[in-house]
Amino acid sequence: MSNNSEFKRTTVQTTPHSGQKPGTSGLRKKVKVFQQKHYTENFIQATLSAMPGGCEGKTLVVGGDGRFFSPEATQIILRLAAGNGVSHIIIGQDSILSTPAVSALIRSKKADGGILLTASHNPGGPNNDFGIKFNISNGGPAPEEVTNKIYKITEDIKEYHEVDLPDLDLSKTGEFTHGPLKITIVDPVSNYLSLLQSIFDFDAIKEWLHNTNPKPTVLFDALNGVTGPYGRAIFVDTLGLDEKSIQNCTPSPDFGGGHPDPNLTYAHTLVEAVEKNNILFGAASDGDGDRNMIYGKGAFVTPSDSVAIIADWAEKCIPYFKSGVKGLARSMPTSGAIDIVAKKRGLEVFEVPTGWKFFGNLMDAGRLSICGEESFGTGSDHIREKDGVWAIVAWLQILAAANKEKPGSDINDVLMMHWKKYGRSFFSRYDYEECESAGAEKMMAHLRELFESSGFVGSDLSATSSSASFKVASADDFSYTDPIDGSVSSKQGLYIKFEDGSRIIFRLSGTGSSGATIRLYVEKYSQDESEYGKDAQDGLKPLIEVALKVSKLQEFTGRDKPDVIT
Ligand code: G6P
Ligand code: ZN
Repeated sequence: MSNNSEFKRTTVQTTPHSGQKPGTSGLRKKVKVFQQKHYTENFIQATLSAMPGGCEGKTLVVGGDGRFFSPEATQIILRLAAGNGVSHIIIGQDSILSTPAVSALIRSKKADGGILLTASHNPGGPNNDFGIKFNISNGGPAPEEVTNKIYKITEDIKEYHEVDLPDLDLSKTGEFTHGPLKITIVDPVSNYLSLLQSIFDFDAIKEWLHNTNPKPTVLFDALNGVTGPYGRAIFVDTLGLDEKSIQNCTPSPDFGGGHPDPNLTYAHTLVEAVEKNNILFGAASDGDGDRNMIYGKGAFVTPSDSVAIIADWAEKCIPYFKSGVKGLARSMPTSGAIDIVAKKRGLEVFEVPTGWKFFGNLMDAGRLSICGEESFGTGSDHIREKDGVWAIVAWLQILAAANKEKPGSDINDVLMMHWKKYGRSFFSRYDYEECESAGAEKMMAHLRELFESSGFVGSDLSATSSSASFKVASADDFSYTDPIDGSVSSKQGLYIKFEDGSRIIFRLSGTGSSGATIRLYVEKYSQDESEYGKDAQDGLKPLIEVALKVSKLQEFTGRDKPDVIT
């Protein structure tokens, strides 16, 4: 192999592309936008330049969900990393790595950061989305000061540095030299799998799966996203289940033309198969593997209940938590089910704005172990991203333990057991996608005005189709002061709390790519056992009516029904 001096760094003149501002989860745009001349190069140069402590001599992890344009982007990263003096790049084979696996690799290899090629659950392919996200050395998404710096650099970038390297063969694992770079191409699964093996008791899960009569049936659906190989390694290779226990497990650059988002609408391949084949345990995850949905025959587990249940069982059955759970947390719109667990167990619980990044500081400070969001994100301090496969294995562990206590327990039984112990938080989210931005903003302004008007707190809001009415206890725009660094995040969602403990919340999505997406969240807490078996939509009907009436949503947006209900 040649030595470094033979590889000439060149400086390429460029001009800025507007709008390269990373959102909460990196820069997400249409593939065609990334394919423009110098577009990807500019953003990568800005990312390398903005790296805390600079990028020279550093080690980076690179990989993603395998979506269209990932191989090309990986080669660009290699050329620019070489040009900017990065010393070592760890890449997933074929540039595949789930988001949790990148976070785990950064931490276990003590890398200085990572570049993730993903647009999460957004559809992929030549006419859909691509994304680039930067994570820092704790394995978590870059904080705002770093992403703001990236953006600032992109706004007046004049040149980027590269070494003109041929494309590297990404299909073989091993150690390589690529120009001045040391390259390690790793199997995408093995490091992550050993992490999970150090967290969970796989033998207990196997025992339940293989020595129970009748045998529990399992179906994992990767929705053609990145978790296919992880699902195969866990369900088939480790737990010894049949090939039939996994589906859509080959990552595809366009996710098979689907929308790789695990919810009742987009994960219909899973829901249908579970219902048709009476599957006891079904689960799906999203394009890049950080989200999850748990769904058994006739039993949808809301993400809010899921995290509360994991928190409740963790110490008892998950070895990683045997020495104690430090604290719990949820995002503001997520139901209060986890708060109730925290209270009964004497644990600290945090309510943070929407976005996984808010959990990182609490974890780094040793105050948070398990957390979740209603948006199908669940995780713990084993890494600094939410982790779909981790949540799925946690549920298998819980079911194995529940079956020791009460043989034959399924997801419905675990849910019912939880509600009987803690009460049930009925929860639902209505999404109105691609609304006209002006109308959505007006609706939010109308609510803000109403909240400030005298007499709103204390007033009774009534449903249209029943006599139900709710007395307003408080109404405000959610604001959060980070207990670790004191930073303040304001305007994080409008909430109305009622005297009976119910809530309605309005937020504009921070992840949509066109127009405005309005999210309406409704929650009602019940300790009436006769209600526990009810469908959430029935239990919440009067509150939803109140929410639509008070917000004048239809008047402002012209929408008479949501696009997605979860
Ligand atoms: C991403 C983040 C999550 C967050 C979600 C909110 O998935 O990783 O932490 O909950 O976006 O999305 P929204 O569209 O509601 O802003
Ligand atoms: Zn995701």
